[in-house]
Amino acid sequence: MKILVINGANLNMLGIREPGIYGSDTYEDLKKLISKHAEEKKVDVEFYQSNHEGDLVDAIQKAYFDKIDGIVINPGAYTHTSLAIADAVKAVKIPTVEVHISDVTTREAYRQISYIREVAAKTIMGKGFQGYLEAMDFLIENRG
Ligand code: DQA
Repeated sequence: MKILVINGANLNMLGIREPGIYGSDTYEDLKKLISKHAEEKKVDVEFYQSNHEGDLVDAIQKAYFDKIDGIVINPGAYTHTSLAIADAVKAVKIPTVEVHISDVTTREAYRQISYIREVAAKTIMGKGFQGYLEAMDFLIENRG
């Protein structure tokens, strides 16, 4: 099984950006944690991070041609704005779990809309980095 973990805007700045909200661990730490989990669960994992909306769309489309079995995606702020990313997830029909490090439901009003939620098989939020591991477990348990 091949899982692609996609992180969107500003998630390369983990550890630096708003540590009170996102914690002090870095994007590299996140990748290490996920790789270790993938090894334990005997699945392959790939990572992609971009700050650019169109590049995220391209990565989702590429997942189709690369025969990726599941996607874990935290689009960052594009969650709340991007119909293009949601359409890409819908287009490729790859089971996708939406992850947010923070609990967006308790934050600003403008974070209450998610275009990804309705195309995702599941949304996990407010669990820090652990949410990515739960998302992987969901994809592994529900693989077709
Ligand atoms: C986030 C929440 C978004 O509202 C924010 O724009 C992010 C990170 C999260 O992981 O909690 O960049 O997706």
